Amino acid sequence: VAKPATLQDASSFPVGFAIDPTAMKDNATYQKTVLDHAGSFTAENVMKPSRINAQKGVFSFDKADYLIDVAQAQGKRVHAHTFVWYTNTAPAWMKQIKDSTELETALKTYIQTVGTHFKGKVASWDVVNEAFDNTTGEIRMASVDDKGQTLLNLGGVIGKDYVARMFQYAHHADPGALLFYNEYGQETNAKKLDAVLKMVTDFKKRSIPIHGLGLQMHININTPNVGIENAIQKYADTGLMVHISELDIAVNPAKTKDLTITAELLEKQYEKYKFVVNTYKRIVPVKQQFGITMWGVSDANSWIPGFCSCTDFPLLFDSQYKTKRAYDGFLDGLK
Ligand code: G3I
Repeated sequence: VAKPATLQDASSFPVGFAIDPTAMKDNATYQKTVLDHAGSFTAENVMKPSRINAQKGVFSFDKADYLIDVAQAQGKRVHAHTFVWYTNTAPAWMKQIKDSTELETALKTYIQTVGTHFKGKVASWDVVNEAFDNTTGEIRMASVDDKGQTLLNLGGVIGKDYVARMFQYAHHADPGALLFYNEYGQETNAKKLDAVLKMVTDFKKRSIPIHGLGLQMHININTPNVGIENAIQKYADTGLMVHISELDIAVNPAKTKDLTITAELLEKQYEKYKFVVNTYKRIVPVKQQFGITMWGVSDANSWIPGFCSCTDFPLLFDSQYKTKRAYDGFLDGLK
């Protein structure tokens, strides 16, 4: 039997990529890889508040609009990422607001403006990203991170129940969009997994509109399979849509500066990709399969090396956009 020509051809659910519109425009190989293999687009950065609304009152939609134009012309779904995110990359003007009413209004206006702009063009939104603290499992309350950088202290300024209100604002702005909560570390952090599940139960009880959960899955070749399977199972058990939203599998968990890639490491990566994809397909009921999105296209454009100052090769295509064993792992997982 011949191999399917592309990931999307091989898959019954949408396969997505986090995309950089500049690379889409300027790099023909990048563009071809995306158009061949993707059924779904997520903007890696250009639909974040930091890019759309870096200055108070000024909205820049150009790059996101370009991506959406390409998606529409090519019949691809767009999953929008993200309305609300606490990190130091949040707009400086927003991070400065310490008055609860003022920040609440700013977020409400942001969601209404941006949600309306993209209404009818995006299938779905990550409404809130990474709300829970890694150590406590409670809503984050910090105003600085461990490097002393200023954060958007949502919990501290507008209160612990803010996530629910952001979902209500998002639903008001775009009633047709599927609304997701997106989180990382669900494979290894029991407290955070529990926090997300409790939030879903609470939202259902209060009729807060939520339709799906994003399991980011920034994992590595040593991430225990039991944790991966447990997170997918628990998310599926909620009955909501399940999106593996930012998949990558690092081969250098020690994050060393230099690493020579070996056939052995590539084989371990193959196995892990196969396990993730197969577990998703096996466990998540078909009607809840929102899809699997890769966080980047080739090893040349992954966020990981820049973030950890290390060497890594976490994706399905190598830096020359040639398929890796990891790619075969994805395909074999679909079988
Ligand atoms: O484009 C500029 C470049 O001009 C400048 O010289 C350089 C110097 O800092 O920065 C470049 O921008 C960087 C951008 O990535 C593009 O590479 C930003 O500093 C950097 O903060 C940004 O990082 C992104 C990060 O989110 C923060 O927004 C990553 O690309 C992106 O992959 C990452 O994605 C997140 C998800 O949104 C949420 N889940 C975790 C995931 C990984 O951190």
